[in-house]
Amino acid sequence: MSLTRDSSGGLRLGRVLLQHVIDEVGTPTYVYDLDGMAVRARELDAAFEAAPHLVAYAVKANTAGAVVRTLAEAGCGADVVSGAELAVALACGIAPERIVYSGVAKQDDELDRAIACGDKGIGAIQVESLEEIARVGVRAKVAGRRVRVGIRINPSIDLGDATHAHIATSHDEAKFGVPLEDVPRAVALAEGAPHLELVGMAVHAGSQLKHIAPYLGAARVLFDQVRALRQGGVLKALTYVDSGGGFGVDYGEGAAVDPVEFVRAARAELRLRGLDDLALYIEPGRSLVAASGVLVTRVIQAKVASAARWLMIDAGMNDLMRPALYQARHRIVPLDGESVKGEAVAWHVVGPVCESSDDFGEHLLPRYPPRAVAILDAGAYGYTMASRYNGRQTPVEVFVRGGKIVGTTQRATLESWAEERVKAGMTEDEESERKTILDV
Ligand code: LLP
Repeated sequence: MSLTRDSSGGLRLGRVLLQHVIDEVGTPTYVYDLDGMAVRARELDAAFEAAPHLVAYAVKANTAGAVVRTLAEAGCGADVVSGAELAVALACGIAPERIVYSGVAKQDDELDRAIACGDKGIGAIQVESLEEIARVGVRAKVAGRRVRVGIRINPSIDLGDATHAHIATSHDEAKFGVPLEDVPRAVALAEGAPHLELVGMAVHAGSQLKHIAPYLGAARVLFDQVRALRQGGVLKALTYVDSGGGFGVDYGEGAAVDPVEFVRAARAELRLRGLDDLALYIEPGRSLVAASGVLVTRVIQAKVASAARWLMIDAGMNDLMRPALYQARHRIVPLDGESVKGEAVAWHVVGPVCESSDDFGEHLLPRYPPRAVAILDAGAYGYTMASRYNGRQTPVEVFVRGGKIVGTTQRATLESWAEERVKAGMTEDEESERKTILDV
C-alpha cells in the first residue's frame, strides 16, 4: 500500500499528506491513490503472459470515474451489474466487447441497453437462470440482434468459514447462478435460441475469501463442466471461461489471496483439461482498489465511561457500511505523527449514527485522542455502499495521482439535503406557498 509516514510523522497516501486533504476538503473523505490501483491492475494483467484473457474489473467495488478510467488505461475490461454501471464503464472508455454483465435479476431496459451497445452488444450478458435465458432471447429478438451470452453456474461449494455468510454466493441455497443439475438444460436452451450466441461459462464463489482453495475449487467445477459439455459435442461457440472475482485482501489480519497466484494455478488447470484455447476471464473488484483507498475522518469527541472508552468520529456506518453489515474490521490509525508517539490505549471507535451497529471496533490509539484518523483499506465497497441515513451527506472523494490531488467531488450541504427531503411529496400548491428552508 502506498501509505507512508513522513519524517515528521504525517500520514501520506500516494505521497499526499492526508492532513492537507482534511484542511482542503473537510471530513469524512475518501482518498484514493490511482497509481496504486494501476500498478495492481498491470501486475495482474501481466500474470496472463500471452494467454487470451480479460481482467474484468468489478465496477461495483468503486464506481468513481477516475478509478474506472485508470483501470481501463491499465488494461481492464469491466464486470457490471446494472444499466448504470454499464453506462459508467462505457463512458470511461471501456469497449463494449470488454464488458460482461452479471446479476440475477436484470431489468428489461437494462438488458436492452446492453444489447444495443456497439456493433454486437457487450462482450456477454451473463445469465443466471433458465428463465433469464428466455428473457434475454426475447429482448434480443425485439432488438433484431444476435446477443452474446455467458452462463453463470452455481458450483455448489460450501465456503464454510472462508468468508462471511453475506458474501458467499456459491452454496446450494444462494440465489446466484444456474444450479449444476440445470446446466445442460441451460446450455441447450441458450444454444437453441436463434438470437443468442453462447460464448462463455462463468462462476463466482464469493467475496473476500481468505484462501485460494475455494477459488480453485469453484474454477475446477466450472472447467470440469465445460470439458464434459464439450466432449458431449456442445459449447461449439465458446470463447471464454470466467472464474469470477472475490480475491480476499489483507485488512490487517494477513490472509490476502494473491490473484496473480490464482491466475497461474487456473491456467494450469485449463491446460490440464485441454481447455487452454479458451480465454480466461476474471472479475476482481476489491483486490484492485481496496488497499489504495482510505477514509479520513475527524474525531468529534471522546466519551469515557465505566463500560468503555469511546472515540467518536465524524464518519459513520452510512459512510462505510462494511463493519455494520459484515462485522468487518478495518485498521484505524492516527493521521498525525505526534499522537502516534503517545501512550496507546484501547478505544472503541464509533460513528455518530443512531444505531448500535455504527461501530468500527476496538483499536489501539493514543490515550490523548488524535484529532483525526484514517480508516484503512477503504477503496472498495466504501463510497459505493454509502447512504444518507440520519440526515448525513455522502462523503467526498479525493483522487491522487503522481503525488498530487487531481480531482475532488463536491460535498453536499446540510441545506441541500434538507431541501430535497422537505420537497419530497409536496403538492404544487404547497410548493408555490413554501418558504425555502433557509427562511424558516
Ligand atoms: N463478480 C461477481 C459476479 C460478483 O458478484 C462480485 C462481488 C465480484 C465479481 C467482485 O468481487 P470482489 O473481487 O470485489 O470480491 N459489499 C461486500 C462485497 C460484495 C461483493 C459482491 N459481489 C463487501 O464489502 O465485502
